[in-house]
Amino acid sequence: MENRIEQIEAEALASLSNASDMEQIKSLSVKYLGRKGLVTLFLRNISELPVEERPEAGKQANITKKRLEAVFEEAAKRMAAGLSDNSGAIDVTLPGRPAAQGSLHPITTTTRRICSIFARMGFDIAEGPEVESDYYNFEALNIPKNHPARDMQDTFYVSENIVLRTHTSPIQVHVMEQNAPPIRIVAPGKVYRCDSDLTHTPMFHQVEGLLVDEAVSFGDLKGILESLAHQIFDEHIRLRFRPSFFPFTEPSAEVDILCVMCRGKGCKVCSQTGWLEVMGCGMVHPAVFENVGYNTRKYSGFAFGMGVERLAMLKYGINDLRMFFESDQRFLRQF
Ligand code: FA5
Ligand code: MG
Repeated sequence: MENRIEQIEAEALASLSNASDMEQIKSLSVKYLGRKGLVTLFLRNISELPVEERPEAGKQANITKKRLEAVFEEAAKRMAAGLSDNSGAIDVTLPGRPAAQGSLHPITTTTRRICSIFARMGFDIAEGPEVESDYYNFEALNIPKNHPARDMQDTFYVSENIVLRTHTSPIQVHVMEQNAPPIRIVAPGKVYRCDSDLTHTPMFHQVEGLLVDEAVSFGDLKGILESLAHQIFDEHIRLRFRPSFFPFTEPSAEVDILCVMCRGKGCKVCSQTGWLEVMGCGMVHPAVFENVGYNTRKYSGFAFGMGVERLAMLKYGINDLRMFFESDQRFLRQF
């Protein structure tokens, strides 16, 4: 009796290997596994076998049934995917399946846009490490240990002297250590701070800018940043330079853009102020130049560090910065 079920299985497999289309696979499946199929009938008739043969025959038949089910399913799948071993069965007239195309993340698009605008103004692109030493992230930028300015940024420490960079400003130092003036660079990258709400995330992106030459003024800085804003948004965009403090620039300013969510009326995105802070900037502090060995009598420069998420938020009218990092397809597909 066991031979009978083995025979059925061998026969099924042989017929299946000759099947050249889905119809044949389906009808074979019915022939063997259907309600009146050969395997099904065999199982149903086990009660007619001698008692001592029933357990073994039942076991064998069930194994065969499972095996054939898997084989038929696999064959149907391969046929549907056009992978049939039988090459004559591929219908070359079927329309192709388009490959799903991804798109650039809005943060990537915004970063590239910023960099290309600066590239057209003659800036090079620079990069630096995300895991930084205390020296580059703080010390060389005129932020000594125990300086209160360290509290402005909630730092993730890797060890006592190693941090996840809290801003892209350490790249300024790397670039100046390796190059003599004149310098004109922008440096995009990820930065990390222990911070999270509507307008803050623990990882975000900045683009740093640094220009060093003879007779550089704050007016040059304003002109370049206004030009950038006009190119990202339009000529009607309003910028506000607000006096501020950074240990590595003097004078320093923070730049706000009129909140596009409420057009300046005040909403929860701009904390009811009507403005959204997008960057810090200023004239490079002489102490920073001294740290990299630049002649402070001859050279002056400006630097800025902008928040890419904040600019993207304003550009695309997004009211919660955290959406950029939730990988929600419904959100990302819109870009
Ligand atoms: C700085 O990081 C300075 N390094 C900027 C700078 C560079 C000043 C060069 C002078 C010269 P600040 O901490 O304000 O400054 O951050 C700069 C910008 O990053 C902010 O204006 C804001 O747009 C963005 N930003 C800051 N924290 C977050 C955060 N947690 N999530 C998203 N964006 C942030
Ligand atoms: Mg700030």
